[in-house]
Amino acid sequence: MTSRPFAQTNAVVTGASSGIGRAIAVALCRSGVSRIVIHYCRNQRGANETADQCRRHGAEPILAACDLADPHSVDRFANQCFSQLADISTWINNAGADVLTTEMAGKSFAEKLALLTSVDLLGTIRLARIAAEQMMANPSDLPPSMCFLGWDQSCGGMEGDAGQMFAPVKAAITAFAKSLAQSCGPRLRVNTIAPGWIRTAWGESADEYWDARAKSQSLMRRWGTPDDVARGVLFATNPHNTFFTGQLVQVNGGWNRRFDVDAPETFGGAPTKHS
Ligand SMILES: NC(=O)c1ccc[n+]([C@@H]2O[C@H](COP(=O)([O-])OP(=O)(O)OC[C@H]3O[C@@H](n4cnc5c(N)ncnc54)[C@H](OP(=O)(O)O)[C@@H]3O)[C@@H](O)[C@H]2O)c1
Repeated sequence: MTSRPFAQTNAVVTGASSGIGRAIAVALCRSGVSRIVIHYCRNQRGANETADQCRRHGAEPILAACDLADPHSVDRFANQCFSQLADISTWINNAGADVLTTEMAGKSFAEKLALLTSVDLLGTIRLARIAAEQMMANPSDLPPSMCFLGWDQSCGGMEGDAGQMFAPVKAAITAFAKSLAQSCGPRLRVNTIAPGWIRTAWGESADEYWDARAKSQSLMRRWGTPDDVARGVLFATNPHNTFFTGQLVQVNGGWNRRFDVDAPETFGGAPTKHS
C-alpha cells in the first residue's frame, strides 16, 4: 500500500472542529485526501483550525455547520456535501454530544440521555442513511467506505450515569453500523471504531482517580490520543482495504482485565514509565 492511499479522493468528517474528529480529518489529508468537508456544530473557530491543518497537507477543506439534533439541518448538510463533492469515498460519522464538559454537565440524567440519543444516534442514523445511498450511487473500482465512532465499554457496560447513558447509545449506533454494512455490501464498506479512554476535553480535566483509572484500564498503561483513534479509522477506511467491512474494532490499548477500581496499586505490579 502507498503512503498516500487516499490520493485524489474526497472525504467528509463530522465533528471535525476538535478532538478525535480533527485528528481524523488531518490524518486523511496527510494520507492524500484532496477535498474534505470539515463539519462542526458550534465551534467555527475550531473548524477553521482543523481546515488550516488540512491545507498544510495540500487538501482543500470545505467548512459546513449542522446540528445533528435537528433533522432539517441534517438534510441540508447532506445536500451541501453531495452538491459540493461529486464523489465521496470516505465518510466518518464522528460527531457526538458533549454532556460532560459543557453547560450540559449540570443537567439531569434524562436531559443528557435525550441529547445523546438525538445527536449520536437519531441524527447520525438519519445522516448516514442519506450518505450511504448517495455514496453507493457512484460506481467505482474501489468501494467507498463509512466509519462510525462507538465506545469500547458499550457492550460490557460501565457503572454510574456515564455508563448508563453512553453504553446504550453507542451500542445502538454500533448495531446500526453492522446492519448498514449488511444492507450495503459490496457497494459500501461500513465499520465501527470503538475508542477507549481518549484524552480529549473531558480527559484533560479528569481528576486523579479517573486519570489513574484510564491509564490502568489499558494494557499500554496510558491514555489514548486522538491520533491513536485516527490510525484505527484510517485502517478501516483505507480504500485499498476492500475485504474489511462489518467490523467493530476497539482502539483502547488492550483492555486490562486485572484492573481493580478500589485498589489500583495491587494489580499493576511495578509502575511503568507511562504510569
Ligand atoms: N474521548 C473519548 O474518550 C471517547 C471515547 C469513546 C468514544 N468517543 C466518541 O468519539 C467522538 C469524538 O469524541 P471527542 O472526544 O473528540 O469529542 P469532542 O472533542 O467533544 O468533539 C465532538 C464533536 O462533535 C460535534 N458535535 C457536538 N454536538 C453536536 C451536535 N448537536 N450536532 C453536530 N455535531 C455536534 C462537536 O461540534 P462543535 O464543537 O463544533 O459544536 C465536535 O466537533 C464522539 O462520538 C465520542 O462519543 C470518544
